[in-house]
Amino acid sequence: MKSERKKVTVATIAKMKQGGEKIAVLTAYDFPTATLADEAGVDIILVGDSLGMVVLGYENTLSVTMSEMLHHASAVTRARPRALVVGDMPFMSFQESRERAARNAGRFVKKAGVDAVKIEGGEAMADTVRYIVGASIPVMGHIGLTPQSILRFGGYKVQGKKSEEAEQLVRDAKALEEAGCFAVVLEGIPWRLAQRITSEINVPTIGIGAGPHCSGQVLVLHDVIGLFSKYAPRFVKRYVEAGDLIRDAFSRYVSEVKEGKFPTLEYSYGE
Ligand code: KIV
Repeated sequence: MKSERKKVTVATIAKMKQGGEKIAVLTAYDFPTATLADEAGVDIILVGDSLGMVVLGYENTLSVTMSEMLHHASAVTRARPRALVVGDMPFMSFQESRERAARNAGRFVKKAGVDAVKIEGGEAMADTVRYIVGASIPVMGHIGLTPQSILRFGGYKVQGKKSEEAEQLVRDAKALEEAGCFAVVLEGIPWRLAQRITSEINVPTIGIGAGPHCSGQVLVLHDVIGLFSKYAPRFVKRYVEAGDLIRDAFSRYVSEVKEGKFPTLEYSYGE
């Protein structure tokens, strides 16, 4: 059931904000989930570094490497999605220098075939964003509760509650827009602040834990389908408990094998 609609580009995403159409973003990390997300009509597939936690079992996103990201982003782009595919730059793949950042963004495009990359950080990353955009690689920004900064934040804490923090986040969003980001993720900030940022910049904002007034929303696929329950932030809505369905299927399989009920001749080859 492949969509007949045209490939989503960064120009499509810009037009969606201008036309008041909400942008639906989901993460995906492999061929089958990318195919399903695309068939469901998501506009952007983010190969997030949340990969580290929800697929690879790491404690946080800090251990994720470029090779792991490239491996999974390649599986996603092999699904040839209509959705724009964004590769998330992992911790220390872009912070060291803008040259290293551009090299790694280039690897994402050349090796994994993504359409854009995402970088965490605000004003401090504006020069790096400008450099990558200068190499014709579209960049999505990401500010607020940026998980790669948990050591500095002291945990997963909502950002921008104090007025000076809020003003800094407004400056961050404006600096990213000015540096050439085609969209900015707002994570874990009060909804009024997200509403203000959305109205004060021209590029779309994509919210996660940032309320209903952003130009679009992103959620982690494993949260949406009930395959990750280590953390249950307030903003996560579970649309299905796939973990329960899968466990039930596995335990029925185990029972049938133990009881000699599977395979029957129906599942066996004749002469
Ligand atoms: O890694 C990720 O999945 C993300 C989104 C939650 C924005 O960065």
